Amino acid sequence: MGAVAMSTPASQKILRRWRRWRTWVSLVLLGVMFVAAKSFSPVWSQDTSPLLWVSSQPAPEQRDVYVDGVIRLQFDQPLNANLQRLIADLEPPATVIFDVQGNELLLKSRDPLKFSTDYTLTIAPQEGLPLEQTIQLTFRTEPQFTYEKDIKPLLEASCVGCHQPAGRQRTQLLDSYEATLAYVTPGDANSELINPRWTNRHATILNANNPNRPQARGGSPEIAYIQERGLPLSRLGFWTSEEVEMVRTWIVQDGAPRTSARVQAGG
Ligand code: HEC
Repeated sequence: MGAVAMSTPASQKILRRWRRWRTWVSLVLLGVMFVAAKSFSPVWSQDTSPLLWVSSQPAPEQRDVYVDGVIRLQFDQPLNANLQRLIADLEPPATVIFDVQGNELLLKSRDPLKFSTDYTLTIAPQEGLPLEQTIQLTFRTEPQFTYEKDIKPLLEASCVGCHQPAGRQRTQLLDSYEATLAYVTPGDANSELINPRWTNRHATILNANNPNRPQARGGSPEIAYIQERGLPLSRLGFWTSEEVEMVRTWIVQDGAPRTSARVQAGG
């Protein structure tokens, strides 16, 4: 009774107004707090919600990946920029160095990867990298040698002069990729193209005492082919042991590819 008696009509009016509006005022305040919390959320969600692997370069199952390239893994949110330690497993084994750039994890083999090899990269959830699930990325590296870049010039310098439609071996052509494949079984070290059996035969054909050998004078189409391209005559019918090894690597290791897309792992 005493308290009511002390309150003036003016203060009673304020109290009545407050009772009427307090619900709305608290609702507005709650709303302001919610918006504020949301705008700060990237800071604390980094520690709480798991990292989602979104995409990668190379893409899964990508072929012809550059052996010296950077592997980029993209995530749905920024990574811990202070990540000091990363356990990443590359099979076949290679020492991997890493870097963090915003949403991306960059990985690179310290030494170039092996050519024409299927690799699997595995990264499990770990301290500082709260992955939603283990990442497994498989890709295949580029071939060391391709027909267009490496083998065609060797064939043209030493073989196509005779193994062309105008040459003396006009039915056994080595003047295109398709024709050459008739003497190549991808992966097979015993492929006819590198069979030592024909080396002796060529030596016989090219023997200075052989009247049937291609003649520099007298319009021989084999010699004409060589001369038109400005190639040395000394290479006709002849590959060095390094060149034979290169052709063998192209066939056995690389599987005799025509070209390579040479995909740079990281953009
Ligand atoms: C001087 C001409 C000449 C040159 C140059 C030459 N060849 Fe030949 N090659 C021949 C002849 C002729 C034969 C067939 C020999 C025989 O049957 O006795 C032959 C046979 C072959 C065969 C066996 C074909 C078959 O179907 O049995 C292969 C493979 C071959 N050559 C590859 C090459 C390669 C690779 C080169 C380059 C390093 C080359 N040749 C350079 C003339 C040549």
